[in-house]
Amino acid sequence: MQQKLNIALVITYCIFLAACGAKGDKPGYEYSPQMYHSVPYEGLTQITDEGAGQLISNREDGKGEFYNSNPNNPNKMNMRHPPENTVSRNRYGMLPIQIHKDSFALAERVLKSPLPESEEVLAEGKELYDRFCEHCHGSGGGGDGLVGQVYLGVTPYNSSTVKDKGEGHIYHVITHGKGRMLSHASQEDPMERWKIVRYVQTLQKQ
Ligand code: HEC
Repeated sequence: MQQKLNIALVITYCIFLAACGAKGDKPGYEYSPQMYHSVPYEGLTQITDEGAGQLISNREDGKGEFYNSNPNNPNKMNMRHPPENTVSRNRYGMLPIQIHKDSFALAERVLKSPLPESEEVLAEGKELYDRFCEHCHGSGGGGDGLVGQVYLGVTPYNSSTVKDKGEGHIYHVITHGKGRMLSHASQEDPMERWKIVRYVQTLQKQ
């Protein structure tokens, strides 16, 4: 009798465990599923199984609670495909700039700062400069920061080769680097770079 009971217990246990299986599109049993599945349509998530969440559904169209995809769009994505040749802008609404890293003269000619002349821009530029450039270039731009004293060859901003360079040139140097200076594109986003440029321009004149 006891043995039968044990066998029955083991079988029940196995069924219980099997019910927990989660793989592929089957998430297994979920506690409070509404927390995981968005009821409104979302751009990239999509649940194409019309019966998903049928048990708890009170949708008027009779489909499962979690069914969430737009069959009229390509790939059943909720998001529409952008028109061909669409170029994405960055979060400031600026188009991407593609100038070869060695084309400094072109950069100087075409790149224009989108920022207004203001004390606020200058103050933010100084703060960013102190964080990202000062250790090499020094607080006055003389190339004598603590790192600059050992990483030699940091050109002073007021040297004859740099002092007359325009904002586009400096922006390009920050973005792509130049000679022994590496690119800072991954550290400052485009708007931050333009703020730094504004501050560097004051140091060129010192
Ligand atoms: C690791 C040290 C280092 C850091 C950090 C650094 N630079 Fe430089 N920078 C250099 C060196 C070295 C040069 C000289 C490059 C060369 O001509 O070989 C240089 C050159 C320059 C020049 C002159 C380019 C020219 O036309 O000759 C500018 C402008 C400049 N840096 C701006 C910046 C700004 C702005 C930052 C901060 C975002 C920055 N640098 C951060 C090392 C650094």
